[in-house]
Amino acid sequence: MILSIDKNLQKLRGNSFLSIADLNCSQINALIDLAIKIKNKEINIDCSKKVLGLIFDKSSTRTRISFQVAMQRLQGSCIEINPSNTQIGRGEPIRDTVRVLERYIDVLAIRTFEQEILNEYKKWSNIPIINALTDYEHPCQVLADFMTIKEEFSTFDGLTLSYIGDPNNVSNSLILCASILNLKINIGCPENYKPCEKIIKKASILNPKNRILNIYHDPKEAVRNSNIIYTDVWSSMGQESQADNKEKNFKGFIVDENLASLAAKKHIIMHCLPAYRGKEISDELFESDYSRIFNQAENRLHTQQALLGSIL
Ligand code: CP
Ligand code: NVA
Repeated sequence: MILSIDKNLQKLRGNSFLSIADLNCSQINALIDLAIKIKNKEINIDCSKKVLGLIFDKSSTRTRISFQVAMQRLQGSCIEINPSNTQIGRGEPIRDTVRVLERYIDVLAIRTFEQEILNEYKKWSNIPIINALTDYEHPCQVLADFMTIKEEFSTFDGLTLSYIGDPNNVSNSLILCASILNLKINIGCPENYKPCEKIIKKASILNPKNRILNIYHDPKEAVRNSNIIYTDVWSSMGQESQADNKEKNFKGFIVDENLASLAAKKHIIMHCLPAYRGKEISDELFESDYSRIFNQAENRLHTQQALLGSIL
C-alpha cells in the first residue's frame, strides 16, 4: 500500500493488469516515476501481510524471481503454485481453482499460453490477476522497458523505437505502449510475419491522431534514425517446432553493428532476454556500450514493486 498515493495510481487498487492497454498514459507515467523513486530508495511501500501467488505454465527466470524479490522488498510474501504438483495440472477447472486461491492470497501473477486463459481467471476471481506473459502480450516487460527508455532520454517525446525480428507478445505490448505514450514505432520483419490485425487495429484506436506504427520488410529502413533498437527471440516459448523455418525466414534480420550504424547517433539497444547471440542479435552489440539490456532486466524489479504497491 502506498502511503501518499498518486491520484493516477489510486484507480489501480484492486484492478487486474492483463494488457498494457489496461493503463492510460498518465498511469503508465506515474508507475514509471514511482518505480524510479523506488529504485533511488526515495520511497518505501508497505504490503505487509499481502501474499502474491505465481502460476507459471512456461519457464521464467526474470519474471519469476523479480516478482518474488519485489514482494520481499514490499514486506509481503510470495508463493509459487506449481501447475504440475497441484490439481491445476490434472485439469481442475480454472473457475474452481481461483475461487479457492482467492481465499488464501491477495493477487495472482500468471504466465500461460492463450490470453483467454487469463480472461477466465479474471472472470471468476475477486482478486487482481497480473499477466506475467501470454502468447499475446508481456505487459510487465514493457513497463520496465519504458522505464529504461525514460531513464535514458528523460522524455518519450519525439522518440522512435524500432523492433526488428519476430512480431510476438513483446512487440505487441511495445506497439500498444508506444501508441499510448505517443512514440513512433517501426516494426522490421519478413513479409508474412507482420503483427496481427487485432494489434494494428488497437494501436490505431489508442492513437487515432498520429500514424505511430510503420511496418517495414527491410530492417535497414526500419532502423533508420531510430533512437531505440529492440529485438527478441525469433521463436517464442511454445513455438519450438517453427524454429528451423523461422531461422531461414529471419536471415538478414539480425540486429548487429552494421544495422545499428543506421540508427540515430544517440541510440540504445534493447532485448527482453533470454537472447540467442548470433541469431537475432550479434554478440558484439549485445555486449556493447549501446546495450541497456541488463538495465531492462533490473527495472523489472522496480516496476513490479510499483505495480504491486498500486494494485494491493
Ligand atoms: N524477459 C522475461 O520475461 O524473462 P523470463 O522469461 O526469464 O521471465
Ligand atoms: N517472446 C519471448 C519472450 C520471453 C520473455 C517468449 O514468449 O518466449
